[in-house]
Amino acid sequence: MSVEHYLSICGGKSNVTRILIPEDKLIFAVKDVSLVSDGDYPYEVIEVLGEEQLVFQRPKSIGHEELLEIGRVIADNQQTQFASSTTPVDCCHRPQWHISPPQGLLNDPNGFIYHNGEYHLFYQWYPYACQHKDKHWVHLTSQDLINWSWQSVPLTPSDWFDSHGVFSGHALSHNEQLMLFYTGNTRIGSQRDRHTTQCVAVSEDGRNFTKLGPVIDSLPPGVTEHIRDPKIIRHNEQWLMLLGAQTTDLKGRLAVYRSDDLKKWQFDGLYGDEFGDFGYMWECPDMFTLADQTYAVLGPQGLESFSSYNTIPHHNGIAKASWNSEQGLELSEFCHLDYGFDFYAPQTMLTPDGRRVLCGWMGLPDEVDQPTAESGWLHQLTAMRELRVQDGKLIQWPVAELYHLAQTQISLQLSNDRYDLETKSYDLSIELEWGSTLNLFEGSEQKLILSADTQSQSLIMDRSNTLNRAQDTIRQLPLDSETIKLRILADTSSVEVFVNHGEAVMTSRVFTASDATGISLLGATAEATIRRLKPSSAPFNPQR
Ligand code: FRU
Repeated sequence: MSVEHYLSICGGKSNVTRILIPEDKLIFAVKDVSLVSDGDYPYEVIEVLGEEQLVFQRPKSIGHEELLEIGRVIADNQQTQFASSTTPVDCCHRPQWHISPPQGLLNDPNGFIYHNGEYHLFYQWYPYACQHKDKHWVHLTSQDLINWSWQSVPLTPSDWFDSHGVFSGHALSHNEQLMLFYTGNTRIGSQRDRHTTQCVAVSEDGRNFTKLGPVIDSLPPGVTEHIRDPKIIRHNEQWLMLLGAQTTDLKGRLAVYRSDDLKKWQFDGLYGDEFGDFGYMWECPDMFTLADQTYAVLGPQGLESFSSYNTIPHHNGIAKASWNSEQGLELSEFCHLDYGFDFYAPQTMLTPDGRRVLCGWMGLPDEVDQPTAESGWLHQLTAMRELRVQDGKLIQWPVAELYHLAQTQISLQLSNDRYDLETKSYDLSIELEWGSTLNLFEGSEQKLILSADTQSQSLIMDRSNTLNRAQDTIRQLPLDSETIKLRILADTSSVEVFVNHGEAVMTSRVFTASDATGISLLGATAEATIRRLKPSSAPFNPQR
């Protein structure tokens, strides 16, 4: 029986919403079961978590190409379905220059790369609600890392290998092609049994992408279905694929595959044993070399916090990595990449002039109740940050291109008199004395408090007087420096606080009323330099 025939039994092309092929079955989910015709081929209709599915025995006539053809039909339906979700909704918390989704939920940045004369950045997106469901990839491009244009939604959960989410991954610029490596996530039956594949999509023109399907479709030994987020690197004249993984005894590890041609992949091993019990899963690996040192970025889940104020199990950090001929990859000296509330799943890329630039998700897994969800959108990406090694320390600093957004620059003597900046979008530099407290986003009802707390020798960020709905309200950054130099990027509903030239960063979303444009300093006076920032070309505003 042909693809056409199956689709017509399912009530026509536009009635098919999903395809699955567990074992010897061929399953179609349909929108409207009343359109399903009897057909001449036996099938069973089942309901799986509110979704009607037609279950056929899978015939030999439906092979790889036919399955991809069905995927393209579903992809066309999905393009129509999410079209109205690409119109941005108004909201007083909408950032002026950070990337936020027009509607729905944004999470990890994906495929961050410079390719053929432009920057490409993708992100995880669920268009229909502020929930973590079947993820799509949004594609943005930029000439300067600041002004971004919406291109399209090139990857949707349309195929048998990614029907429940085109999960995170990286990009590779190779032989003129832009290649996307990602994790295909599928869930089978009412138990929602997870099946994971590592997949590839390619583009010749940097705009249109063709899915090629899985390049890894089974699990390596000793690993659960939690293995995802491929990063491809070149090492010793071979391609390596790094994946975040969970072992069958529930430990987070880094899984590595090897390939000569980017198509056939051999499992190499699991790495990270030297970290022992270090979370139950590692997500979103990245790896790069800076100043002759290789670093691995990891998102360990289930780690105990370094602070009693932090109840979140999801962490994100960077470790030193070295390759040796006996053990393979060795990791050491894990440290956090951010000490604020909202930072996860970062990716880095190399600019043509050799800078390593990082962008992260300003949000956290599991947290979906924040004020913007009422307007129909949730989460945003961080500012673009350059990573550098200075005096042996890894530092993060806003990319120089951010100065393009600077408008007026003022110098202000801050004191306990609240000064109205008349904007929530600025770049502020100040040196804090120990014992002083800086109030940001200060209005009649709310403020974000940053205190240089002498007793705990730490910089404390307190969001208890804001409209935040998540449980944690305090973040603490231990500091042993004499002075506390801050550069603060504020953007309507977020702050990124770069401490002591970028040796540490505290990133947080900050929800306050529209009148919260004030600033004050308690316990000292100090001069602040403030650049008001103008909006970037609206990253949430699809230019169709
Ligand atoms: C991290 C993550 C990834 C996964 C993606 C799904 O936030 O859980 O591991 O690929 O999000 O959206």
